[in-house]
Amino acid sequence: MDEPHHPTWPSQFFTRTRNYLLLFFYLVYFVSIGHVSCQAWDGVLITQADYQGLQAFKYGLDDPRGVLRSWNDTGLDACSGAWAGIKCARGKVIAIQLPWRGLGGHISEKVGELSGLRKLSLHDNAIRGQIPSALGFLRDLRGVYLFNNRLSGAIPPSIGNCLMLQTLDLSNNSLTGSVPSSISNSTRLYRLNLSYNNLSGLIPTGLTRLTSLAFLLLRSNNLSGSIPDSWEASRLQILHFDDNSLSGSIPSSLGRLTRLQELSLSNNQLNGSFPASLCNLSSLVQLNLDGNQIGNKIPEAIDGLRNLSILSLHGNHFDGEIPPAIGNISSLSHLDLSENNLTGEIPASIEKLANLTYFNVSDNNLFGSVPLLLSKRFNSSSFSGNIQLCGFDLSVPCPSSSSSSSSSPPVTLPSPSSPSSPRARKLNTRELILTVAGIAFLFFLLLSCVLLSCLFGRRSSSSEKSTAAGAKKPGPATGTETEASGDTGGKLVHFDGPLAFTADDLLCATAEIMGKSTYGTAYKATLEDGSQVAVKRLREKIAKGQKEFEAEVAVLGKIRQRNLLALRAYYLGPKGEKLLVFDYMPKGSLAALLHGRSPNTPIDWPTRLTIATGIARGLHHLHTTANIIHGNLTSSNILLDSGSHPKISDFGLSRLMSAAANSNVVAAAGALGYRAPELSKLKKAGPKTDVYSLGVVLLELLTGKSPAETTNGLDLPQWVASAVKEEWSSEVFDDELAKDAAGDELVDTLKLALHCVDPSPAARPEVQEVLRQLERIKPAAAAAAGGSEPSAEEGKAEEG
Ligand SMILES: *[C@@H]1O[C@H](CO)[C@@H](O)[C@H](O)[C@H]1NC(C)=O
Ligand SMILES: *[C@@H]1O[C@H](CO)[C@@H](O)[C@H](O)[C@H]1NC(C)=O
Ligand SMILES: *[C@@H]1O[C@H](CO)[C@@H](O)[C@H](O)[C@H]1NC(C)=O
Ligand SMILES: *[C@@H]1O[C@H](CO)[C@@H](O)[C@H](O)[C@H]1NC(C)=O
Ligand SMILES: *[C@@H]1O[C@H](CO)[C@@H](O)[C@H](O)[C@H]1NC(C)=O
Repeated sequence: MDEPHHPTWPSQFFTRTRNYLLLFFYLVYFVSIGHVSCQAWDGVLITQADYQGLQAFKYGLDDPRGVLRSWNDTGLDACSGAWAGIKCARGKVIAIQLPWRGLGGHISEKVGELSGLRKLSLHDNAIRGQIPSALGFLRDLRGVYLFNNRLSGAIPPSIGNCLMLQTLDLSNNSLTGSVPSSISNSTRLYRLNLSYNNLSGLIPTGLTRLTSLAFLLLRSNNLSGSIPDSWEASRLQILHFDDNSLSGSIPSSLGRLTRLQELSLSNNQLNGSFPASLCNLSSLVQLNLDGNQIGNKIPEAIDGLRNLSILSLHGNHFDGEIPPAIGNISSLSHLDLSENNLTGEIPASIEKLANLTYFNVSDNNLFGSVPLLLSKRFNSSSFSGNIQLCGFDLSVPCPSSSSSSSSSPPVTLPSPSSPSSPRARKLNTRELILTVAGIAFLFFLLLSCVLLSCLFGRRSSSSEKSTAAGAKKPGPATGTETEASGDTGGKLVHFDGPLAFTADDLLCATAEIMGKSTYGTAYKATLEDGSQVAVKRLREKIAKGQKEFEAEVAVLGKIRQRNLLALRAYYLGPKGEKLLVFDYMPKGSLAALLHGRSPNTPIDWPTRLTIATGIARGLHHLHTTANIIHGNLTSSNILLDSGSHPKISDFGLSRLMSAAANSNVVAAAGALGYRAPELSKLKKAGPKTDVYSLGVVLLELLTGKSPAETTNGLDLPQWVASAVKEEWSSEVFDDELAKDAAGDELVDTLKLALHCVDPSPAARPEVQEVLRQLERIKPAAAAAAGGSEPSAEEGKAEEG
């Protein structure tokens, strides 16, 4: 045990007051129930070794902005939160977080004295010199974020001693030497980013065995030799090796990485052929092989890449014909086959690719006529440099010819094994209690639990700062129980998606509260790399037990539809805390859009109709494909992405809650104003209660009124219905819509909305029907010509 730097209280004080402290802790625990814990200074003074380590660390750095002025000589308060960027637990520094602080100088080898350090975050500074090899002494180190600095020299092989390492991001420095093969000792490694350096030598074979690795980024270095061919099934999602000097052929074992979403090997000297095994990568979204010397044929089975959006084979030696199966990859948006030696005709199947926005087959040996639709969609630069190709330009006459291709070799691969998530030793919670320095600090702690910032728990600040400015400052010391990222049994599970973060990243993200609901609190969290996610922290008391919870959340994590907010990950803390991680929607909710805008920002009718149709589409997917009743559809849980496309959120959460909680909470589901009238008796949400809520949202879009307000004692549906009785009184519609010349569309949508809010559930249409009608309203001309008759359909729907 390290000696505290300045022992101040006699030890008898401790023993005598321990029982009181214990009691007090329980009190604090119950006060803060529903939260991970109160993140606060645990009251333990910094150890001598850590104090000296920090001093040396400070003197190594240049600090032109005086960021480290708070690190002054007494040292007493180094762990109290007074020292910028320092977090402690039990007198040990566990995190140094000083990104974007304009720091220069170098990182002292004395950083190795900080034996409890878990996170070193100094990215986006101007730090020079070498990475200290003493990092290898830090057995608890999980996150090293030194990207965007001016570090040089080699990566110390001692880093392989850090067996807990999860994130190593040294990208965008001037590192030289080779990638140490010892790095593959860190079997928990999740993200390795060494891109944009000047590393040379071989890619260590050991990396192929790291089944925990999700992100492997070695782009823009000077790596040579061949890509190791011993990849084991893993959770690897992104692999970037482009802009190096790699040679040899593409290893066929890459086909085992069935979760791979991006594979970039561009601009190397790879040769050989395209391994058929790669066609098994059904999650792959992006495949870049351009700028190599890869040859032979493009495999016929290429359509096994059924989620592919970008396929770039530009500048290789591919020959043979373009496989017609490419036309089956309906998600393809970017297809570049230019500068190869391809022959034959352009397969007509490519015309089917509705999402294609970039197409290039220039500079090959293609012949025959360009399929008509392709020649219309793309100009001659997509086709030039093929001497015998015709029909893409008026100046090129077209003799007719034909060719066909056949034979597709069957491809089989071993199926992936699912890697286990990191777990580790339990912490003795009593340690927390035994080492408290004095009751004064406890009062300090109780008074100053301020929600914000790190750990989604409560963090303390010396009660003066609960402002946004306070949130920007790195938080003060952490208690052990909040250090849940891995070694206290916390568990982070990712679903499909582009997010790269570890449990530590998530728990130490800067968080702002966005809102609270019956299920919990929603936060906007900014991760270490600057990306933003929405985090929902469920109320623990009402959530299901871990096993059931995990089964249900796995189902929710698979739901992917463009109008439903995607669940990207969940975190289970050691004390049962549950966090759900979603995409962050920068434009906020529909409610905010409609009711929270300034007077001169009108929302035109086409935008409103597009939003309405999107909501119906999302709800339709929820009801028919996912088999989920929303139960609480309101304009505040319809969010808008950067393109103002609606995304329904908060669905399926009732599945994560205990039955008892559901009978109370969910029975009352549906915010007032959106609740179908029968819910007050039946207490059971169903497809038709969702349709009712959808109808209210439609009325909200049409009238611009909030359902929370009543007019003359009538709720929104009643008020609209009464107004409508008096000859479609145009005063119903939002004033600004009157200007849009879309009277029929407005009236049709209004009829549909009223149909949805029919007091009788049986009379309401299915969401399918609502969607069909909204889609029909959309093209103004078509709707008029088709003569939609909602009254006839009303009769039809009553049967269902
Ligand atoms: C140490 O720094 C803190 C924070 O900047 C300041 O309040 C305090 O007065 C300083 N103490 C000494 C002895 O310089
Ligand atoms: C890797 O580093 C580069 C350069 O700093 C950065 O642009 C990229 O987003 C990083 N990728 C991941 C997944 O960490
Ligand atoms: C990268 O390292 C090589 C030696 O391995 C050296 O010749 C080259 O100049 C370096 N490039 C940069 C940009 O530092
Ligand atoms: C392209 O293919 C033709 C025959 O199909 C062959 O003669 C020629 O050498 C090839 N060129 C390259 C650069 O591979
Ligand atoms: C062809 O279209 C692309 C973009 O679609 C444009 O950048 C390019 O200049 C066009 N080329 C010609 C020759 O019109």
